[in-house]
This record gives sequence, C-alpha cells and structure tokens, in this order.
Amino acid sequence: MTDARPAPGVLAAFESATGFMPVDEGLALYAAAHQAAAATGLPLLEIGSYCGRSAILLADAARAAGTVALTVDHHRGSEEQQPGWEYHDPELVDPAVGLMDTLPTFRRTLFRAGLEDHVVALVGRSPQIAAVWGGQLALVFIDGGHTDEHATGDYEGWAPHLAAQGLLVIHDVFPDPADGGQAPYRVYLRALAEGFGEVSVTGSLRVLRRR
Ligand SMILES: C[S@@+](CC[C@H](N)C(=O)[O-])C[C@H]1O[C@@H](n2cnc3c(N)ncnc32)[C@H](O)[C@@H]1O
Repeated sequence: MTDARPAPGVLAAFESATGFMPVDEGLALYAAAHQAAAATGLPLLEIGSYCGRSAILLADAARAAGTVALTVDHHRGSEEQQPGWEYHDPELVDPAVGLMDTLPTFRRTLFRAGLEDHVVALVGRSPQIAAVWGGQLALVFIDGGHTDEHATGDYEGWAPHLAAQGLLVIHDVFPDPADGGQAPYRVYLRALAEGFGEVSVTGSLRVLRRR
C-alpha cells in the first residue's frame, strides 16, 4: 500500500464531517483509493455514504487520478440509524416526510470540501443499482447496511465489477462479536475464501485484492 495522504484541508474536512470513521481508518481508505485509482484510472465506488465523511476521501483520491467517486446510498439510513436505535440523529430526519434524509448534509459536506465536481451520487438501493451497473471499478468500499442480507448483497452485487488490479475494502470487520456485528466479518471471510488476499488491516477496515 502507498503512503499517499490527503492534503491537510481535505483531512480537516473529513475530521469535521458528520460520521463514524476514525482518522486512521480514513487514511487507510485514502491510501487504497489513491493507489487503485492511479493503477487503473477507473472510478472508485462506495456503498454507504451517510453524510459524506468517507466520500470526501474517495473524492479527493479520484480527483488526483482524474476519475470520479461513485457513491451509492438511499440516504434513508441503516437499521441502527432509525428512531429509537443507537445511532439515530434526529437532526437528520426530513420533517416533511418523517424519514431520515442524509442527502442534504451529504451534499453540503462535499460542497464545503470543494469536492462536489469529483463525485457522482447514485441515490437508491445498492442491489438495484448494482443490477443495472455495467462498468469496471478501481475500488469497491462496502460500508452500507450491516445485516447479512445487505452486506452480502453489496459484496455479490459489486465485487464482480472490480478490475483485475482493483481493491475491495470492507468496513466494520469485527472478528470478536463483543466488538460489533458479524455480517461484515462474514463477508470478509467469504471474500478470502473466494480468492481475495489481505493487503492491509487498520482498525476495523480491511483492504483486499484478488489473488
Ligand atoms: C455506516 S453508514 C455509512 C458511513 C459512511 N461511509 C461514512 O464513513 O461516513 C451506512 C449507510 O448505508 C446506507 N445504506 C444501508 N443499506 C443500504 C442499501 N441497501 N442501499 C443503499 N444504501 C444503504 C444508509 O442509508 C447509511 O447512510
């Protein structure tokens, strides 16, 4: 993995954005995205954007390589972000419809970071978008729904679109159930069993490449 880092202003935008990813994992994601985009010239894709925190890093890596970051999210929040659950933020509810809507915050995040022109936001459900997607990708970053149904759907829908030199990145991989939900870990194990090899481990972030 390269030691490419985002510019200080981009890192500051990441740190101030609403979201959950710690800085060390963000830097590992950026390094992977920078390397994959430079090696292939192809777009970077994330599933699960929330308010744009990780998208800032993908957008900056895409900009450096002259490509784009594709973001896939229905912007209605995951299970754990719904009212009454641990990660719910009432400020992210659209009062007009009474549902979560992280899209306005996502757009503001990328606008303020000066990276809006390097992102194509795909608003919808990951399996539906994957089913109509035809292009190859430099990097697939899985950080969408954390149930088995969603995490498996993200892997099955998007991993086949990775270019030969592309990287698969999975967030919230917790081998110990005491640390968190197991669905991303099960997807990670499946990827290893299906021919991916581990490139780096940073916190709960795993970077993999097809052997
Ligand atoms: C953990 S958050 C993403 C955090 C983001 N990567 C960051 O670092 O700030 C998960 C996101 O996945 C989205 N999501 C969950 N299931 C989805 C699905 N099936 N299709 C599209 N988006 C989904 C939710 O709306 C939520 O915004």
